[in-house]
Amino acid sequence: MNCQEVIKFRSVVKRVSRMVRSAAVLLVAAASLTAAVPGDAQASSGAAVPPKQPWSFLGVFGQFDQAALKRGAQVAVQSCLTCHSIKYIKFDQLRQLGFSELEVKAMAEGTGRTKKDPLTSSMDPTAAKESFGVVPPDLSLITKARKGYEDYVYGILVGYASDSDLALANRVMADGKIGAEEAKEVASALLLDGHYPDKMAETLKRMIGGENFNRYFPGNFFAMPQPLMDGAVAYTDGTENSKVQLARDVVTFLAWAAEPTQMERKSLGIKVILYLVVLTIMLYAVKRRIWAKVH
Ligand code: HEC
Repeated sequence: MNCQEVIKFRSVVKRVSRMVRSAAVLLVAAASLTAAVPGDAQASSGAAVPPKQPWSFLGVFGQFDQAALKRGAQVAVQSCLTCHSIKYIKFDQLRQLGFSELEVKAMAEGTGRTKKDPLTSSMDPTAAKESFGVVPPDLSLITKARKGYEDYVYGILVGYASDSDLALANRVMADGKIGAEEAKEVASALLLDGHYPDKMAETLKRMIGGENFNRYFPGNFFAMPQPLMDGAVAYTDGTENSKVQLARDVVTFLAWAAEPTQMERKSLGIKVILYLVVLTIMLYAVKRRIWAKVH
């Protein structure tokens, strides 16, 4: 190449790199636009967006808290399995969480099954449909199947109306109408939209009537009665068994159930990336050596 050709070549490279850069900017802009749409949809469905929780297992270097997994399995078996199945997991697989063979056998037999059986529900689907109007969904993949993922599942487990929420609803509705101050109070306690007092009154009436109100379920009412209360499951490792703790543990377990091999996947991913980085450095060194004498 002579000097002029080199200059020409450089300007072509510059032009191409500018084009690539603007294409990348366009792609990023398009991606952020499409990402914004479902968020808006959730907001307009009337339910609050569940707050993010500090899950230890998220992220490239995330790890499951083994003790939480064991406690969560216990909550799932003793509470959720009454109505739901977690059919892609077998009792025997719970040994991967650190349960002994005897413990797994006892857990399976406690629900009338053997250790080779999957975690099916104790309730027959037809009976469930009769009592609830819907068949409770299988929970094997639930943390991946809902917008909000783990935060959403945790949110609905702790998002029910408490006694004080009910007391507030009764007080506000005592005179049959909602004043501006009351609307604000209800909006902040129950995370409802304060701009529509009529809709709010309707929600409070249904809540007082005993329907299952939940802050984070889209539409606020659904067929699942509150499954977890303080002390609902007895823990053996000394951890406080508050409702919030039970919910945190069972969601950790459900995240594991949705992908039992995710820790292996992540550690393999990190090894592959490290390998590629080392390989790139070596190939670069080789390239410099081979071309060292060419001007
Ligand atoms: C008394 C029966 C019962 C128990 C116990 C129960 N559930 Fe449910 N659950 C239901 C029913 C019924 C539905 C369907 C609700 C609907 O779609 O209206 C449901 C739905 C759900 C959903 C899906 C919500 C959605 O977005 O569609 C999740 C998640 C869930 N349950 C988690 C749990 C967990 C975790 C436990 C254990 C801690 C549990 N449930 C215990 C009856 C139950």
